[in-house]
Amino acid sequence: MIRGSVPRLRRTLVVLGTALATVAATLAVATTPVAAAGSPDDYSGSDLWLRYVPVSDAKLLRDYRRTVTAIVVENADADRVHRHTADLTMAPGSTEKLVETTLGAARDELVRGLGGMLGQPTPVTTAGAGTVRDGSVVVGTPASSPLVRRAVSARDLAAVGDEGYLVRSVSRGRARFTVIAGNSDLGALYGTFAFLRLMQTQKPVDHLRIADSPKIKHRLLNNWETERLYAGNNASGLGGLNGESGAIFNFAATGASAGRNLPVILDRYIVMARALASLGINGITINNVNADNAYLTSARIAQEAALADALRPYGIRLGLSIRYTAPTDSRFAPDTLTNSQLDPYGTEFRGWWTRRAQQVQSAIPDFMGFTVKANSEGQPGPQDFGYDHGDGANGIAAAVAPLGMTVHWRTFVYNAEVDNDRLKRAYLEFGPIDDEVQPDGTRGRFADNVFLQTKNGPLDFQAREPIHPMFGRMENTNQALELQVTQEYTGQNWMLTYLGPMYEEVLKTDTYATDENGKLLRERLVGNIVDGSAQHHPDTAIVGVANLGNADNLTGHHFSQANLFAFGRQAWNWTLDSTDIATDWVRMTWSNDRRVVDTIRTMMMGSWEALVSYQTPLGIGHQFAEGAHYRPDPADWAGRDDWSPVYYNKADSAGLGFDRSPTGSNLAAQYFPRLQRRYGDIDSVPENLLMWFHHVPWGHRMDSGRPFWDELVYRYQMGVQYVTWMRETWETLRTDIDARRFGEVRAKLAVHEADAPTGGTPR
Ligand code: GCU
Repeated sequence: MIRGSVPRLRRTLVVLGTALATVAATLAVATTPVAAAGSPDDYSGSDLWLRYVPVSDAKLLRDYRRTVTAIVVENADADRVHRHTADLTMAPGSTEKLVETTLGAARDELVRGLGGMLGQPTPVTTAGAGTVRDGSVVVGTPASSPLVRRAVSARDLAAVGDEGYLVRSVSRGRARFTVIAGNSDLGALYGTFAFLRLMQTQKPVDHLRIADSPKIKHRLLNNWETERLYAGNNASGLGGLNGESGAIFNFAATGASAGRNLPVILDRYIVMARALASLGINGITINNVNADNAYLTSARIAQEAALADALRPYGIRLGLSIRYTAPTDSRFAPDTLTNSQLDPYGTEFRGWWTRRAQQVQSAIPDFMGFTVKANSEGQPGPQDFGYDHGDGANGIAAAVAPLGMTVHWRTFVYNAEVDNDRLKRAYLEFGPIDDEVQPDGTRGRFADNVFLQTKNGPLDFQAREPIHPMFGRMENTNQALELQVTQEYTGQNWMLTYLGPMYEEVLKTDTYATDENGKLLRERLVGNIVDGSAQHHPDTAIVGVANLGNADNLTGHHFSQANLFAFGRQAWNWTLDSTDIATDWVRMTWSNDRRVVDTIRTMMMGSWEALVSYQTPLGIGHQFAEGAHYRPDPADWAGRDDWSPVYYNKADSAGLGFDRSPTGSNLAAQYFPRLQRRYGDIDSVPENLLMWFHHVPWGHRMDSGRPFWDELVYRYQMGVQYVTWMRETWETLRTDIDARRFGEVRAKLAVHEADAPTGGTPR
């Protein structure tokens, strides 16, 4: 906080305190606390949301036990997935196991899930002469299972596409059973997880008629390894122990962990695979976008192949981030190029990438392709050699297209030395390439197997940003939305911040995109752009920068698991409500007790807005001390303008905020006309983006009637008070939550409360 009126602040606090105390009291209304069933007190959170504890409601348990009595997965072991690594093995002492078929994974998950939830083993049976036993759960595809073929019509199934599923309660004579059907084994696996989720969240499962399919085709994670990783297993949460780096995958661990490098498979890879499949995530680019060429060497490819083998039954494909100039790296000698051979139209450059991609594909036949960060934050790119992003992306895309691979070309580029506003660069560089008329008369130069991968906002994963003006602008190019799941700017592993509402806000924001005649498109939310429905893109993708590390609970903060869960659910169906997603996650992760569910969900739902309020309220961006992106330091100049809080807040005697209206940098003009007008005018811009677009006079009157400065103080304080309220509220759950996780969250909330108002000590 920069300045303030102390008496006024005190009054605000009293009012706030009273309001929050009332909320807290309401939530704390005592129902008899029930000890968390089936939760050993030292449970670490290692199962993520796939924690199949016994059903706590006695009546429901009886119903479930009646409805679900057997598991039938015909031909579960028939369709083995490809395995490159002959002797693929789990590390000694593992508790997870490798599976070889997708239907086997479905069967095993049912055995585990039903066994845990029903508190008794559920037998795996065969159908026996085409008859189904009452209470069976039948899983498969029309090709794998005669029972499925008979139970669901081809037409109904056709409607859910390659990866969708049907889950139905069926009556045949006296038998009532459940069918989980997909057109592919993967669809059936997704349906299996959906069925288990119903039981984990204690929904009835005796009259089911569910049809579901993903809206977006490629639902991916980007793993930045240890960069912006807050889930390493050492004491500070960063890095790792025993020679591990803290990353989820071990490629080069040393010391005590030297024997735990890939190709050896660790439990956490399989837990991750199961959890990602439960959300429908179907790919992961495993290394940092600031890419190390080591991942393209033969030794690493062999390790990557083993990982791909282990994940394949779960429908998770691998991709790699690459460096544009990898061909010049001496590690590939004698197959190297010189700088002058890096012509993206030349046969040397393309040939090199084809050879490399072929080598990867021979070990990983379903390899997805490459993600490229080029001419961005010091990474090399085509502009270093006189070409533009279109040339560079298409050069690599052409090299890998015959292999069926794609290129995700990131649009995170900026240059504040050229622009009067760092935020304008991507639109200026990529937009014209999308407009170019091609020799065949079509528009847009980017190849069909290129996705432009764009962050949700034009700056850099700030807690709140307006949408990126690229959404809707690139109508002739495949768009991939990139969201951040790892909490770089949203409290890292110290703050309880549920990002589901942020993803929802992004996905449901209206772009007001128009067609070539200036007519508003009918479907034009960001989600419609990303799922292809707005501008008829046939290929679609969404990417989450993941938060997975080697911590016991895989994400560092127990509540960060919710962000991965929410991302996955919204990647599958971006129209979902983030409150419902939170409810599911709480039920699956903590408890089905109503009071616990209501309390935790309420904490989560306000947590993101609280963080925005105490870190970057009213649309101010990037107020962080240099480097760590945790502690606000509005007065900081970080050695270069566009990394510095003062560049973004422009604080002076007149006011605060970056003028991006027509009187300033006019970033507003990059949006479609309706948004352009709305953002460009201080009277119509949403208040939560006020300082993003305007240099706001200190005395500006807010909707609340308060002057701007008072509103700022009020918001900061609201955010801070919310954290206190969360800390106090968590205490009311002491008897409901298993001891270790309760204590760990409690300790984090204490740090959170201390850091929210002050920015804390640098961590
Ligand atoms: C941010 C982040 C970097 C990351 C970059 C990117 O700047 O701090 O760690 O490399 O985004 O998305 O490429």
